[in-house]
Amino acid sequence: MWIDLKNHATRIADRRIEDLFANDSRAQTYSTTALGMLFDYSKTQIDAEVMDTLIALAKASEVEARRDAMFRGDKINETEGRAVLHTALRNLDGGAIEVEGADVMPEVLGTLDRMEALAEEIRAGDITDVVNIGIGGSDLGPVMGVLALAPYHDGPRCHFVSNVDGADIADTLRGCDPEKTMFIVASKTFTTIETMTNARTAKAWLADKGVSEEGRFVALSSNVDGAGAFGIPAERVFGFEDWVGGRYSMWGPIGLSMMIAIGGAAFRAFLRGGQAMDRHFQAAELHENLPVLLALVGIWHNQGMGYASRAVLPYDNRLMRLPAYLQQLEMESNGKGVAMDGSDLAVQSGPIVWGEPGTNGQHAFYQLIHQGTAVVPCEFLVAAQGHEEDLKHHHQLLVANCFAQSEALMRGRTLDEARAKVAGKFEGDELERQARHRVFPGNRPSTTLIYDQLDPETLGKIIALYEHRVFVEGVILGINSYDQWGVELGKELATALGPVVSGDASAADKDGSTQQLVSFFLRHNA
Ligand code: F6P
Repeated sequence: MWIDLKNHATRIADRRIEDLFANDSRAQTYSTTALGMLFDYSKTQIDAEVMDTLIALAKASEVEARRDAMFRGDKINETEGRAVLHTALRNLDGGAIEVEGADVMPEVLGTLDRMEALAEEIRAGDITDVVNIGIGGSDLGPVMGVLALAPYHDGPRCHFVSNVDGADIADTLRGCDPEKTMFIVASKTFTTIETMTNARTAKAWLADKGVSEEGRFVALSSNVDGAGAFGIPAERVFGFEDWVGGRYSMWGPIGLSMMIAIGGAAFRAFLRGGQAMDRHFQAAELHENLPVLLALVGIWHNQGMGYASRAVLPYDNRLMRLPAYLQQLEMESNGKGVAMDGSDLAVQSGPIVWGEPGTNGQHAFYQLIHQGTAVVPCEFLVAAQGHEEDLKHHHQLLVANCFAQSEALMRGRTLDEARAKVAGKFEGDELERQARHRVFPGNRPSTTLIYDQLDPETLGKIIALYEHRVFVEGVILGINSYDQWGVELGKELATALGPVVSGDASAADKDGSTQQLVSFFLRHNA
């Protein structure tokens, strides 16, 4: 079936997307409305035959059976022997979910209640600044969510320290009052070097300011013993099980900073949104199923058309960290060259994901998207309503820009149109030369997800939508989306290089380039 996708790509090679709209029901045929959102993928080359192949691929990969196995708690993370049940964290009013014969829901809901009690206590107290120390999945979700839901903030300020670069924590703490600052150490394993280093620096900062650390630290971790050894008592540890992957963890304890910022009720609304998307994913037919459709469009562009990357372009400034969040979610999940069964992947691994909010990106990299030689499928996100009642004209401009970009990408500008633009300013060969620079090839695909307003529930729907999209793409590619062995080697080598860059060990066994870098560093690091 992969070959069929390639054959479709050849078949449509000379076709223009805009011509497909001669069939005036195309927009309705290649779009789906669900859960108050419209997903429009009509500005792509997908037609009935491409869709048939994509659906056949999904069926042949047993997407539905794999999905049911995931929700049931089967150990679908086969390389780590774990269930994949982040969906249990938002199963607010669902039934029992069993892992190895035991219902996990009482513990999940009990932890949520404990989190809420602490969050409300902090929100009602004297703490003015909360610093979440974590990295990867223990940072990207909460930081993205806290920024996204700024209009709902009515708690203390939330900061995020992730990088082991001391600049990160130093810049953050500079603005904090030690008497009124608390730290959340967010680490599933409680061993991650960046997080532990920053956590120790936070401890030292309090000590240096003469402030007791008692009651100032909370741990979000599966490693209760590790948190205890660090000095955080069990009652201030919020645990989660190994069936919650780091990059899928913002729905549980890792979301505590978000809960502190927006309150328990709004956080539960976020969970409800995620749960609504779960139910849609489980129940909707494949051709009307939002996560499945996003995945199929992705597979078509990446595998069929051979486009190496995709841009995520939220026309919603508060989603400024969504591209970074999705980079981890998609690339750590599906950036793998080995299939579930250990064989080499027969197809490309998942695409490079990148992006920035519009309209800012328009004034930066859209040049390449419009006129560069590489085609980048674009995924636009936009809200029908902003939150700024008195700034409706801003929102209208924002939306006009979003819609204009997908139109421009599809239509482009012909040489004749470009000539007409410069006629009168130039003539002869110069007119021709100038006109050619103003041609837009067009025929560039994009999708648009439009939703009512970026409230907590909608954010939950969007994040769960992308999580399930990654899952479906992974199943179709034959990848285990839930391990991340590719991050191990760099960590091991960094550990070995630690004594070398501190001058306590020799670099003699390293390659010439690494030796040269170490030597320059040691000479210049006084
Ligand atoms: O970079 C690898 C990784 O394991 C991510 O998957 C994870 O989100 C991150 O490190 C942080 O891990 P932890 O929460 O255990 O500190």
